[in-house]
Amino acid sequence: MHTTVLQRPIDRVEADALIVHHFAGGHRAGGATGDVDRALGGLISELAARGDLATDVGGVTPLFTRAGVAAPRVLVAGLGDPQRVDAETLRRAIGAAVRKARDLGARRIAVGALGSGIGGLTPSETARATVEGARLGLYRYRPAAADAIGDTGDHGIDELVLVDPDADRVEEVSDGIRWGEATADGVELARDLVNLPPNVATPTHLAKVAEELARDHGFAVTIGDRAWAEAHGMGAFLAVAQGAGHEPRFIVLEHDPSRGKEAPLVLVGKGVTFDSGGVSIKGRAGMEAMKSDMAGGAAVLGAMRTLGRLRSPRRVVALVPATENMLDAHAYRPADVLRASNGLTIEVISTDAEGRLLLADALAYAQRLKPKAVVDLATLTGACVVALGRGTAAGRFANDDALASRIDAAAAATHERVWPLPLWPEYLDDLDSDVADMKNSSGKPHGGAPIAAAFLQRFVDYPWVHLDIAGVAMRDDVRGYHTKGATGFGVRLLVHWVTHA
Ligand code: BES
Ligand code: ZN
Ligand code: ZN
Repeated sequence: MHTTVLQRPIDRVEADALIVHHFAGGHRAGGATGDVDRALGGLISELAARGDLATDVGGVTPLFTRAGVAAPRVLVAGLGDPQRVDAETLRRAIGAAVRKARDLGARRIAVGALGSGIGGLTPSETARATVEGARLGLYRYRPAAADAIGDTGDHGIDELVLVDPDADRVEEVSDGIRWGEATADGVELARDLVNLPPNVATPTHLAKVAEELARDHGFAVTIGDRAWAEAHGMGAFLAVAQGAGHEPRFIVLEHDPSRGKEAPLVLVGKGVTFDSGGVSIKGRAGMEAMKSDMAGGAAVLGAMRTLGRLRSPRRVVALVPATENMLDAHAYRPADVLRASNGLTIEVISTDAEGRLLLADALAYAQRLKPKAVVDLATLTGACVVALGRGTAAGRFANDDALASRIDAAAAATHERVWPLPLWPEYLDDLDSDVADMKNSSGKPHGGAPIAAAFLQRFVDYPWVHLDIAGVAMRDDVRGYHTKGATGFGVRLLVHWVTHA
């Protein structure tokens, strides 16, 4: 699918389906909606007055146009309360409307411009939200993602046309399209990687994707294998990889337009391509969901794709420690004592608390980069899902207020919600060990999310935010611009943070 901007009266736009917007609460149709309404002899306002339009956000009403406008079908997308409209409502409304258009067989979809200044959005922001909503709402899993990143996903739509009759705004709209396309490219990559089966989305596959990104965008890339990790003393990462059939990879991907002058922003993503629990094996029910345990790593790679496409001026380094957590005769075991690359020793209580182990070595590695700030994303604890629910928010832990408020602002702007949880040193008491500097798990059923964060903090000596995304990496329903399966959570948040840093 490709997206273009077209300057033409809306009633003369040729497309299989034309999407216009409508607010709730008896508001008169303006902008493109008003033009289409007039061309259809007042049909839209009549339906609205009778209460026959689905005007809530996500509501879609298909109309047949009987030659009043060039497009054979008009879909009215509900925008809800005009006082509350913002980029998020727009993404949701468009996502639902384009999916409906595809269900009706449309291959070429046109979207009418919103009146200017609606929701305080610029034409560029409106266009960006429209493109993001459309592409993400149309996303479907592509098995072909196993072979290549690809330009765009298979959306079942050939063309999306943003119609804006105002010549002055065409350039701004084009700029918004560029941002929207770049963002959707990143989110789609992240969703594809998480949705791919774990026998395909292996550590070597993630490394191949990183190499492809490096080639496409001129990033520097280092792919560390077992020997590389040994040379770096990464005993915690390697312990998790010990029982794995697929070879582990430690991915370092760097975008540096500053040529070494700027301290980097570092993005760290948990890359457990399948989490069986290891010797502390998980139950059989639902274990298939653990293919998503590399969602943090996928988000980081997705964000790099978007930042590369946008030619971001910031120096950014992505770190993805990637391995499966499996069990064979070589697998690490409870009671093993490991030595992480910063010298700290760890007593293994649960081999299922593996994410913090590979993140420990990645966070210690980040230190060498003298980072300005580090953000890690990890499907780290079931406890975080218990605390915040599924599909609502990521747990957000921070050791730096300024960085925390920047991440919170990025979360609010992108609606990739985060919620603060504490990083108090007392949580470490539960990890006291008789044989090592600390245990990897308390072995108790309470406080799992902050205890994991407290563990990670021992490997950190820079401004840092940890996002526990266990509850938001996957979803089981289709809604707005969200599709079933992987969400790509974190890509838009990270991109917003980096581009506003
Ligand atoms: N990958 C899991 C956490 C998870 C759970 C992610 C549910 C997504 C959905 C993680 O490695 C894990 O198993 N954590 C354990 C930690 C415990 C052993 C301290 C958990 O949460 O039970
Ligand atoms: Zn685990
Ligand atoms: Zn895990």
